[in-house]
Amino acid sequence: MAKTQSRYVCQECGAVSAKWAGRCESCGAWNSLSEEVVEKTPGGLSGAGRSAQRLAFVDLQSRSPAPPRLTCGIGEFDRVTGGGLVPGSAVLVAGDPGIGKSTLLLQVAARLAAGDKGVGGEEAASCAYISGEESIDQVRLRAQRMGLGAAPVQLAAATAVRDMVASLDQPKGPAVVVVDSVQTLFIDSLESAPGTVSQVRAATQELIRLAKKRGFSLLLVGHVTKEGQIAGPKVLEHMVDTVLTFEGDRGHHFRILRASKNRFGPTDEIGVFEMTDGGLEEVSNPSALFLAERRGNIAGAAVFAGLEGTRPLLVEIQALVSASPLATPRRAVVGWDSGRLAMVLAVLEARCGLALAGQEVYLNVAGGLRIGEPAADLAVAAALVSAATGQEVPEETVIFGEIGLSGEIRPVSQVELRLKEAEKLGFSRAWVAPRAKRGAGKGRPQSGGLAIEEIAHLQDLVARLARPQADPIGFRTSAP
Ligand code: TYD
Ligand code: MG
Repeated sequence: MAKTQSRYVCQECGAVSAKWAGRCESCGAWNSLSEEVVEKTPGGLSGAGRSAQRLAFVDLQSRSPAPPRLTCGIGEFDRVTGGGLVPGSAVLVAGDPGIGKSTLLLQVAARLAAGDKGVGGEEAASCAYISGEESIDQVRLRAQRMGLGAAPVQLAAATAVRDMVASLDQPKGPAVVVVDSVQTLFIDSLESAPGTVSQVRAATQELIRLAKKRGFSLLLVGHVTKEGQIAGPKVLEHMVDTVLTFEGDRGHHFRILRASKNRFGPTDEIGVFEMTDGGLEEVSNPSALFLAERRGNIAGAAVFAGLEGTRPLLVEIQALVSASPLATPRRAVVGWDSGRLAMVLAVLEARCGLALAGQEVYLNVAGGLRIGEPAADLAVAAALVSAATGQEVPEETVIFGEIGLSGEIRPVSQVELRLKEAEKLGFSRAWVAPRAKRGAGKGRPQSGGLAIEEIAHLQDLVARLARPQADPIGFRTSAP
């Protein structure tokens, strides 16, 4: 017999308490506790009332052939998942509303269902697309607009998990199930509304259990709330095998798919897509895309040769330095870490005598990309110094290196890969960190047409960007 009981769950962090309070004791959020009714089934999760059974241990070395991964033929997606979807696994695709999650998963489902026999020779896999947000006609219309009208995807509009389980829990079910989105799901034995922590958590758990039982790959869509967390709290992240975040700037056409957790592959890979009228298109040469809007040589711009996962990526870093009327000048960063900017500014000031304290500083990674690599330090410093002196970075130069607190430039990884990409895109010069002295490939890198200049200290960089006519370090301390 089931007995019900109330509890209060914080919608921000998922903490559970027995009584209501105005403020969550765990995360400190105000007015975030909401009452939810839990159903306690005897012999439920705790397993009380059920006799113990022996575990059927399996030898680690025993070779039961693993079912092959499902690749959809969209290279950018397959790479980020670590080489295709693993049967029986759950993937959460998280992102802002309207970023393109439904579009991406519809395309993935269509390609999987059609089987990409032309290029990759993938086998077709049966796919079900369950939408809780759009009607079947809406999904169909979207598919037609993207030229996927002929793909044999099974569509359904549903939000009740009970119905989904009833239709999917059969031996010959689909191989891939897309559920869009977890915020619309509900389990009728819980009294809380769809989208609340308990509903999202319980519904997801139920679907994951089914995916493991029936061996289908589950693709879940999760909207990120304004706090940047999935489903309010991060309640889902530890339940699923893979979390893919779909990011992008509304003002730009391209979108980045990033693996932030992956039990079956690396987490630093990214996939780059462009949103077009006909859906998402793969971008196989992202550097060219990110540099496309570059307008020749201007002061305050520097090209960074970065690395996203296994792939080199060239982006332009832009800086603006201007005199400030404020006592505390403004510092604004888009696409980079503001703490890191403060550090680079402090090193420029303390080790190179560059007076930026009274200046407003703006830093932007062009195209809306977010960079996390410390290797971008040197390019950021170059953009800043160039903006301050008005002296452009020499044409066709890429820059990378990490800056230490004493102003020394530290080596970075994968130098060859970065240089090769720069060369491919027609760059002729590289300002790089001194190479690590140990291991293979020391001394001058052997990159054909690229002139490589090692920069050992931040002062070397500043000297290169000093205004030629003025004193060696001719910095503006006020507006010209
Ligand atoms: P959608 O996949 O519905 O976003 P999500 O599921 O993450 O909420 O994408 C919605 C946006 O994508 C919408 O603003 C319009 C744009 N879009 C295109 O530009 N081209 C297209 O072919 C499609 C289908 C959508
Ligand atoms: Mg959607």
